[in-house]
Amino acid sequence: MSASVQELPSFLRGNYAAAAPDGTLPAASLRYGAADHATWRTLYQRQAALLPGHAASAFRTALARLPFAEGVPDLAATSALLRDATGFSLVPVPGLIPDAPFFTHLAARRFPVTAWIRRPEELDYIVEPDIFHDAFGHVPLLTEPDFADVLEAYGRLGAQATRLGALKPLARFYWHMIEFGLIREGGAVRAYGAGILSSGAETRHAVTGATPRRLRFDLWRVLRSDYFIDDLQPTYFVIESFAELFAAMRRLPALLEAARDATPIPPGAAAPEDQPAR
Ligand SMILES: [Fe+2]
Repeated sequence: MSASVQELPSFLRGNYAAAAPDGTLPAASLRYGAADHATWRTLYQRQAALLPGHAASAFRTALARLPFAEGVPDLAATSALLRDATGFSLVPVPGLIPDAPFFTHLAARRFPVTAWIRRPEELDYIVEPDIFHDAFGHVPLLTEPDFADVLEAYGRLGAQATRLGALKPLARFYWHMIEFGLIREGGAVRAYGAGILSSGAETRHAVTGATPRRLRFDLWRVLRSDYFIDDLQPTYFVIESFAELFAAMRRLPALLEAARDATPIPPGAAAPEDQPAR
């Protein structure tokens, strides 16, 4: 194991001893029993039923084309479909991996997917990402060219942000725009972020809940916005298109140092420049 794995919290439950230095697990180590497939199907059916009226159309269209309905998906078969669409592939990992290999994988259009699935008593909520979050939540939009470009660019920025001591603003971008992003479609707000769409409670809260702030996407605001890691989000940012998000990616490197030095905006707080999403 690489020394950097020591940076990870000790409660993580994946099989880190079996992982290579780049964080990946051998494909042969992936085995799922009938109970695992049943857990996946329960989660899939519950979440798929919520997508109309809540999820971005690009997400719904892509999910329908993926072999996800019958049980824990086969990562190699799914990778073959992604490669044709955007050149992305999936690599199995024990769970959260250190920043450096995570950035390297994304920069090479490899998306790390946690190998294990939650226990039946954890259907509604787990702290760590499992394969349902990573595959159901993240993989559909890896078929979307502009979104795939955003992830690759994010991975490429990792080394620069590390050098500048600016990992925090970069992580805020990932959190708000990859995990918890909303998009406007024909006058309605829809979810595309994986942290939203892999959770029933967050899906309802983010898209139709009465309390959250839904703000027009503003890169500089996002880079300064802190967030809750263990509660529903109080603030979401709404993009107009994935092309808009990729255009923002191009401006991000020039803002990293200023964002590092700026005063953070606490979760749920207002900022003078906030504009509600229409
Ligand atoms: Fe995620």
